[in-house]
Amino acid sequence: MKSPICKSRSLTAFLQQFGKPPRPVTATACAPPRPREVPLCPLVAHGEAQNAAALPGPTNWPLLGSLLEILWKGGLKKQHDTLAQYHQKYGKIFRMKLGSFDSVHLGSPSLLEALYRTESAYPQRLEIKPWKAYRDYRQEGYGLLILEGEDWQRVRSAFQKKLMKPVEIMKLDKKINEVLADFVCRLDELCDARGHVEDLYSELNKWSFESKLGFQPGGLDFPVIVQIKPGPGENMMSTFGRMMVTPVELHKRLNTKVWQDHTQAWDTIFRSVKSSMDRQLDTPSGTPHTAFLAEVYQHSRLSKKELYAAVTELQLAAVETTANSFMWMLYNLSRNPHVQQTLRKEIQSVLPENRAPRAEDLKNMPYLKACLKESMRLTPSVPFTTRTLDKATVLGEYALPKGTVLMLNTQVLGSDKDNFEDCSQFRPERWLQEEKKKINPFAHLPFGIGKRMCIGRRLAELQLHLALCWIVRKYDLVATDQEPVEMLHLGLLVPSRELPIAFRRRSDAAEL
Ligand code: HEM
Repeated sequence: MKSPICKSRSLTAFLQQFGKPPRPVTATACAPPRPREVPLCPLVAHGEAQNAAALPGPTNWPLLGSLLEILWKGGLKKQHDTLAQYHQKYGKIFRMKLGSFDSVHLGSPSLLEALYRTESAYPQRLEIKPWKAYRDYRQEGYGLLILEGEDWQRVRSAFQKKLMKPVEIMKLDKKINEVLADFVCRLDELCDARGHVEDLYSELNKWSFESKLGFQPGGLDFPVIVQIKPGPGENMMSTFGRMMVTPVELHKRLNTKVWQDHTQAWDTIFRSVKSSMDRQLDTPSGTPHTAFLAEVYQHSRLSKKELYAAVTELQLAAVETTANSFMWMLYNLSRNPHVQQTLRKEIQSVLPENRAPRAEDLKNMPYLKACLKESMRLTPSVPFTTRTLDKATVLGEYALPKGTVLMLNTQVLGSDKDNFEDCSQFRPERWLQEEKKKINPFAHLPFGIGKRMCIGRRLAELQLHLALCWIVRKYDLVATDQEPVEMLHLGLLVPSRELPIAFRRRSDAAEL
């Protein structure tokens, strides 16, 4: 497997690492830190809480904020570790500036619960201006990642009816299994004599893509959407980041090279999505998997334009997050053979030898579900999500004004010993029976929180649970070395090096 370091990342996560484009700052770079200027929150006037200006936080130098400190402590790729250290030093809530991007960081279950309890009807994440600029320019629609307000609610409801309903998602198991059957055959071909798979990351991404929403390989061009391997020229992912930190309007007005590349990349994506979707909508089909889009289209009042945009963004949010989560899962099992053994026993006790797993079977596999939870706690794919407060809100002792950007550091929660005993250990048992009761539900949020949480959670979990059954039945996952594998923050939290895993085919594995 090639190291995923240079690869572009899923937008769900990628959008979270950028702030708003820098605004001009007037102070000189070498001056000592100035007192923070923050708008007064109306709630403070009633003496209920302290103003946001009183929030603790790392050094805030003019122009740079804490950027140098973050770079010095290991750079943006290790920002998740630095944030965990900041939480230890400054507490569960602190304030930080990176350049002119000002945000308040939350790292405790009680604060996230407080936020959840006060969230408004249409919670907002950070704005992705380059995407919006393209859609407005070409008169295309917005999808769930960038929609706001009532429009977001309308599109969300249209998809939620199918994607968040367990009975609807369970119907997709057959198709997911078909893709998995092909995937494990391909793994056999890809394994060398030692069980090593070259470029496992790309293979997992292809598998993840093919399992989603009925898109067939060849139907929608996979690399066009997720661009795992940087292709010739620029792509949407590599260009939009630059326009998040420089004013997109300026790029557009000057028709800069970045704007042209970004526009061209989106043109290709939309052309591809439209032709694939038109084919699906025009072909009546009986299978739940391929009928998915047609049903959303018929039963909602979404226009085709809205559907194109929504499906494009679903794919962007879905593919790499799922593949990366599975990669970490394989890694954790390879490092914990005893867990693998217990898991295999559970699978064998529930499934007849020569039958594919069904969604229904998973109800009898608590240990399998615990393994995925534990993997997503210890090695989550998405390190944090964001919210922009649309009203003044009190969190902890602080009154935060409308417009405050919140970073919800969900990765920090999972690695905090206050929330999880032996937090550095991979111990699925913690999610079972009595032990489970000790865990605060707001300490484990790998899919986000509240009304705006991940809409694909159930689909991702079904896909990952079924994949685990297939792989663990067929292979022993063997760690080929015991050197540390670190997490790097590249939008998603990815392994720092090629994973030291071998897939050793089991002699007792039945052909399915
Ligand atoms: C293991 C895989 C996945 C992980 C870890 C993951 C994680 C997340 C997270 C953390 C968020 C932000 C939630 C928030 O702000 O509270 C999110 C949003 C989202 N995810 Fe996922 N996701 C995964 C798979 C999927 C799949 C399979 C789909 C599509 C079928 C999907 C579609 C979306 C969409 C559309 C949003 C934005 C929702 C909205 O704003 O209404 N994700 N995801």
